[in-house]
This record gives sequence, structure tokens and C-alpha cells, in this order.
Amino acid sequence: MKETRMKDIRTRAVHVVNEPLPGGSRPLSVPLVQSSAFAFDSAAELAEAMAGPDGAYVYSRRGNPTVRALEHTLAGLEGGASAIAFASGMGAISGVLLALLRPGDQVVAQRCLYGGTYAALTDLAERYGVEVTYIDGDGADGFEAVAGPRARLLLLETIANPTGRVPDLPGLLAAARRRNVVSAVDNSLASPVLCRPLELGADIVLHSTTKYLAGHSDVLGGAAVFADDALRRRVWPRTVELGACADPFAAWLTLRGIPTLPLRMREHCANAGLLAARLAAHRAVTAVHWPWLASHPSYATARAVLSGGGGLLSFDLAGGRPAGRAFVEAVRVARLALSLGGVETLVTHPATTSHRELDGPALAAAGIGAGLVRMSVGIEDPEDLWRDVEQALSVVLLG
Ligand SMILES: Cc1ncc(COP(=O)(O)O)c(C=O)c1O
Repeated sequence: MKETRMKDIRTRAVHVVNEPLPGGSRPLSVPLVQSSAFAFDSAAELAEAMAGPDGAYVYSRRGNPTVRALEHTLAGLEGGASAIAFASGMGAISGVLLALLRPGDQVVAQRCLYGGTYAALTDLAERYGVEVTYIDGDGADGFEAVAGPRARLLLLETIANPTGRVPDLPGLLAAARRRNVVSAVDNSLASPVLCRPLELGADIVLHSTTKYLAGHSDVLGGAAVFADDALRRRVWPRTVELGACADPFAAWLTLRGIPTLPLRMREHCANAGLLAARLAAHRAVTAVHWPWLASHPSYATARAVLSGGGGLLSFDLAGGRPAGRAFVEAVRVARLALSLGGVETLVTHPATTSHRELDGPALAAAGIGAGLVRMSVGIEDPEDLWRDVEQALSVVLLG
């Protein structure tokens, strides 16, 4: 009852609702219950606890108090009815896909997806006979044109990585609802601070909590948050079989990061906005991709759907592939590493790392130039970051 008064996300991020201890008081921070199994005095109570996801704790693959606290917190932040925490973002995505799809079903997904999700969908199509159809545009007409009678799932990302494309979530989610198609939105790059897709009509929100939610590059995790608890009950048995459950310590570390999420997102967005504007004016740079930059193709949608431009930006260097590689080696404050969403600034060169299997035309179709650099902008001092970027760009220009 108290929670319903916590409307603002900054308040909800700080106040985790703990289960009461014997005696009735509640710890302020979430206790770490690092136990794989739970002992009972009564065989009947143990048997009863096996009936579903919400009985007494039995075994931590089925449920754990620390993991449950994370699930409640994530459901609260996203405005969902309930959530399941996973071992990683890919655990959450694979769990939901495997739970909801059967051979012959159709998934409609946006073309520009995280590579791991794309690989999971390719596997579902090749090995399990699921039909996967990609839509290129950002609007609802793309979905309506391709959704067939066996369409079961629409899969979107709030902000696509690394292009920053933002789909028309309200339009697409309404179109899915009209066709009784379950919609799932990977909200990892926006976080619930910048967008809450359930409020826009999504059925499921997916997260790599590894990224902004945990925020400190020290833990892997994932989550699915459900608008309707009936959907969690459908997904839960499959996830228990899959076994990609969150470990209590990983859940505890994620909870440790969440109270500062709104503060961190503010700094990520402000720093990324400053770097995006200055990069756009630099002679070594041919294009900057950040959704809140007026030149970005998703600018109007991003302004409507997101409350900030996000912490991820990418930019094309005039010198192509060698320039991209030279830049990521020349930075001194930013670090060359693959992840994103942590407090520190990271850079990568997608054409030779995450997208290295793609040839020139395939890279171009995915909107990834050979000289594109991706930057997960951290919360360091923005002028330190800009000085670092400037010196790395001057190395590129000399090279
Ligand atoms: C948008 C998005 N979704 C999902 C994932 C997968 O998350 P994890 O690495 O936690 O499995 C990533 C990882 O980079 C991502 O960027």
C-alpha cells in the first residue's frame, strides 16, 4: 500500500520493498540469501511449495528471496505486474522466446537487433521451425504488412544498438494488440528511466540488467517484466527448465546498483549529448548517431518516446576501417571493451568485433559503416571525455 504512493522513478529506485523478518521489522537493504535450497519441517508443506512460482522457497532455481526482491523492484520500476530475473540478458530473451513459441509460429522482429538476439532467432528458425520475419522501417505499417495468421510475438528494442534507431513503439504495440500478438520490448539501452514500454502498450519488457540497471560492469543479469501476471505464469515453468535463473549474489549486486540508476542516467545522457554535438562539428567525423540529435532519422520518435537521448552514441569516421581501429586504440580515458551501460566510458569498433561476420554490403544494410565507432558514454567529467576524444581524433587524422 505504501508503494503505491511512490510515483516518481527516483523514489521507486531507492525504496526496495523487503519481506518482513520474524518479529515484523524489515531490513533497509536487501539481505543476501546465498542458499541453493531451503529446509522444511513438514513434508506436506514442501510438497505444497512445489505447486507453482509463488509458494514457499524450495530451491533457488525456482525462486529465492534476494532474487524475488530484484523481481519486485524491476516490476515496480517498469510499472509491471511481476517479473522473472535471469542469469543474463540472453537468458531472459531465450527464456521468453522458448516459452512462447512453437514450430510454425511467426515472430515479427525489427531488423536492427542486438546480435545475440538475432542469433537466437536464426536458431529458432533453422532448428525449431519458427518463422522469423524482419521489418525494416520503424512504423506500424511494417508489422501490419507482414504479420500472418500464426504471428505470435512482436520483438522490438527501444533504442537499437549501435544505430540508435527508435521504433514507433505506441503505433507498433497497438498494432500487435489489435492482432492479439504478444509484444516484447528489449529496454536495456533506455532503462526504465528513459522509457517504460509497458505504459505504451507492451506485454513484456526484456532487460540485460548487466547494462544500465546494474551499472557498474561487475555483474551479468537479465529480466523479463510482465504487464499481466498470467504471462509470467506461462513463462516461468519453461525458465525453470532452461535453468538460466539469476544467482542470488548477482541479484544482490544488481539491487545495489539500482538506487543510483536515475542519477546515472541523467549523467550518461548529458555527457552523450555534449559529445554528440561536438563530434558532429568535427572534421574527422562524417555522421553522428544519437537519437536526440536533430539530424538523427528517429529524432521525432525519440523525442516523443524517450525522456532522454541515452548514453550510447556512435559516429562514422571519414577514414573508414583503419580510422575506426586507430580511434579505439588511441583513447586514454575511455576503455576499449565490448559492453555498455557502466559508469565508465567504453569504445568499440563494431565492423571488426560484434559485426565482424558481415561483409561490406551487409554492414551497410545494418546501418554500420566500416569506420563506425560505438561509444558507451560514462559518467566521468564531460570535458575530460571530450579532451580524450579530441586527442584520439587527432591521432586518426595524422594516421
Ligand atoms: C540490447 C541488448 N539486449 C541483450 C543483450 C544481452 O545481454 P547479456 O550480455 O546480459 O546476456 C545485450 C548485450 O549487449 C544488449 O545490448
